[in-house]
Amino acid sequence: MSIENDDRADAGATDGEITRKKMLKMTAMAAPVPLLLAAGIGVSAAQEGSADDGLLPATPECHDGDQPTVAQTEGPYFTPGSPERSELVEPGMAGTRLRVIGFVYNRNCTPVANALMDWWQADNGGNYDNRGYRLRGHFYTDNAGKFTLSTIVPGLYPGRTRHLHVKVQAPNRPILTTQLYFPGEPGNGRDTIYDPRLLMRMSNAGGGRVGTYDFVLNFTGAPPTTTPPSGGRFENTGNVPIPDNGTAVTSPVTVTGQPGNAPAALRVNVDVRHTYRGDVVLDLVAPSGVAHRLKNTDATDSAADVITTYTVNASAERANGIWRLRASDVSRRDTGHIEAWSLQF
Ligand SMILES: [Fe+2]
Repeated sequence: MSIENDDRADAGATDGEITRKKMLKMTAMAAPVPLLLAAGIGVSAAQEGSADDGLLPATPECHDGDQPTVAQTEGPYFTPGSPERSELVEPGMAGTRLRVIGFVYNRNCTPVANALMDWWQADNGGNYDNRGYRLRGHFYTDNAGKFTLSTIVPGLYPGRTRHLHVKVQAPNRPILTTQLYFPGEPGNGRDTIYDPRLLMRMSNAGGGRVGTYDFVLNFTGAPPTTTPPSGGRFENTGNVPIPDNGTAVTSPVTVTGQPGNAPAALRVNVDVRHTYRGDVVLDLVAPSGVAHRLKNTDATDSAADVITTYTVNASAERANGIWRLRASDVSRRDTGHIEAWSLQF
């Protein structure tokens, strides 16, 4: 990558560091920015709110026939396979705390439940983590089409104004790739990618900032019918060492209270720490004993760790019973362990 961050004078402009004293749980929610953004009416810095009243309007504003949220370039730094999480802030991470909240709609103003949102951004110093998944994560909108991302205000890097990257996808629909911007940034006027239709509305809450933005995906008609997850989540956080170039180990998860078969899109969240992940083979072993391959070896993949979510068609498997994550290391030298894993039904 040729972008160097030697020009970091501005990067600290994000009003201070996060205090390590417990992050305030911001129950306060700013009003969602209605579709005036998507309709092309920029929110100016003058509209930046001050302290927030903490109330979400009963009915989000939305108008039939609004224009879809504009797409923008992905840029060079997207990494597939981000972990499933909406909290991107990690202990010790510098930066001003930021929440981004809003709704995902279609063009009929119908909230889109279970829409996938995959976010990535620069850290406080303007750097992307292109080796791991720092400040990267994906999650799904709730049944009301609402989302909340917890992160930090991204730092600046040369050539761009302050921005967040996101991909938004309704079930079985095309992906919208775009970026969100901050009002009042000096760089907005100089950045040729910047688009005022993608400005968040900003306010302050809980010692951090809150940005609101509603996305409008470019389809009409009934929202997709994919069933959102029923909420059954089962995990094992026990540490299981994976012997070097040795026999496979397993970590069990007992699933109960899930009638019938497992879903066609069973989500398997895996956190395997390893110094050379190309050595690692992963399978999900169903209660029936049938193994579903999650990951093959790849001698060229020298990166560390497998922290990702796999989707397995497990509709032929009974849901209840003991599921196992099976891991093995197939070549000499590098080793690792299963840190944790979970099943989302
Ligand atoms: Fe970027």
